[in-house]
Amino acid sequence: MFCIGRILATLAVGCVTAVSPRIMYAQDYPTREITMVVPFTAGGPTDVIAHIMANKMAQTLGQPIRVENIAGAGGTTGSAQVARAPHDGYTLIAGHMGTHAAALSFYPNLPYHPEHDFEPVSLVAGTPIVIVARKDFSPHNLREFIAYVRANTDRINMAHAGVGSVSYTSCLLLNGLLGIKPTGVPFGGAAPAMAAVASGQVDYMCDQIVNVVPRVAAGAVKAYAVALPERSPALPEVPTTFEAGRSTFEIQAWSAIFAPKGTPAPILARLSKAISLALDDGDIRDKLQNLGAVIPSPTERGPAALAILVRNEIARWTPILQTAAN
Ligand code: MLT
Repeated sequence: MFCIGRILATLAVGCVTAVSPRIMYAQDYPTREITMVVPFTAGGPTDVIAHIMANKMAQTLGQPIRVENIAGAGGTTGSAQVARAPHDGYTLIAGHMGTHAAALSFYPNLPYHPEHDFEPVSLVAGTPIVIVARKDFSPHNLREFIAYVRANTDRINMAHAGVGSVSYTSCLLLNGLLGIKPTGVPFGGAAPAMAAVASGQVDYMCDQIVNVVPRVAAGAVKAYAVALPERSPALPEVPTTFEAGRSTFEIQAWSAIFAPKGTPAPILARLSKAISLALDDGDIRDKLQNLGAVIPSPTERGPAALAILVRNEIARWTPILQTAAN
């Protein structure tokens, strides 16, 4: 309002900047490379999904998206780092059911809060959980697996991607249902955890289907059950926990993109639109679905739907995990 006449001629840039820097900035976004942090090691389910999405989103946004792996503490190290990053849209995190819901139950001093320190951008994929074991593990099916691990609870071990990760959380639940306490073997991500199962160093794990499908196809591991009511089209030979009479073990994890709290709404909207376009792209859908990922419907996408999901997941998991951990 004060930028008129000669003042406008001399101070226009300063005035415009003073009036609406965030809006101007958001309209131009993005003007440079974006970093998408994966809080686990490379090659695991979060990393694979992040790369698939980042490549397509980069085409839409017209700027490269670099995937950076910052592993540690079940995904909470990388998540904490992004929570403290500038809220300018140039640092994002590929979070999931572990980092942005379950972790709250395991870390009393978690250095971030999934709801208070992040802006939800969009859900990206559902990832059903599969119980897998080294290929020479003697049980032939889920019923035999249950009998075996109960009889040998002191001798068996279980791989996971750190306390609070999806693999840790889902097997904690399974172990609680079966009344077993195997030795946990932590890794920086599901990729090395799965490699340890495939090489026979560790007996079993509960993993996201995206990490399981290629290993089952290669004959590297044995899959006992998908923790869903229906079989996955990506693993049609693998029965469900329901088929084995274990319907209480039903878990579909999820992957989502978040930005640091305070990221301007127009930037969140651009990112969310780019994600939705990617999820409607035939090639991306094939890549995700061939790995068993479940693609969110249009109403399950975007910041508002993800905010509700995170709130509901924290409310759902907290009492279950606090009971299971004791
Ligand atoms: C990974 O990408 O390594 C996984 O998402 C880890 C996990 O949560 O199990």
